[in-house]
Amino acid sequence: MVSQFDLFDTSQNDIFSTSSYEKFRELLAASNCQKCALKNSRTHIVVDRGNPKAHILVIGEGPGENEDLQGRAFVGRAGQLMDRLVKEEMGLDTNQHFLIVNVVKCRPPENRTPRKEEAEACLPFLKKQIELVQPKIILLLGATALKHLAPSKKEFSMEKEVGKLFNLEAYPNIPFMVLFHPAYLLYDNRKEPIFRQHLQELKKWLLSQKLVLA
Ligand code: URA
Repeated sequence: MVSQFDLFDTSQNDIFSTSSYEKFRELLAASNCQKCALKNSRTHIVVDRGNPKAHILVIGEGPGENEDLQGRAFVGRAGQLMDRLVKEEMGLDTNQHFLIVNVVKCRPPENRTPRKEEAEACLPFLKKQIELVQPKIILLLGATALKHLAPSKKEFSMEKEVGKLFNLEAYPNIPFMVLFHPAYLLYDNRKEPIFRQHLQELKKWLLSQKLVLA
């Protein structure tokens, strides 16, 4: 009888069975993942940027052009804006104090929103990242991250959700906060003061939890 064993699955098994974030990153980046159609247009699988030991996990939507070329998350204009605002409002360095990841790890063509099947195919990687990092708080950047992490919130308005702490059944010990996506701030800079205010609230929360920021 022909064996049903699939070589592709063994490489995925290694990614999902490791207990080391560094190993996970290395294996996923080198995996040539074939799980969805985004494989056809990507240059790199973009696993993350930042520090896997950080307390704060940030989840964006998907890599853009610069991220795809460099293989690192949020290195384009939106990421640079986020880095600057986090420095100015919280005094933090995103590379040291945050781990920044995305819902999908490969760039959608023309930077379109990831499709449901693409996000679903990629979510096990994000779940593994959350499991390995055990963050103290998760920040969801924009509506796409909120939609895929909190599918129970069927109808929501970003304006109502942003800046509030909430919990999800799937992660009972981790508080979540939704922030405007920094690309949205580039599009409408009237939202920047609100984003700054949310960062200040986040800083207050971190201090109230006695989480070391320096
Ligand atoms: N936008 C995202 O959502 N993620 C990135 O990595 C870059 C831009």
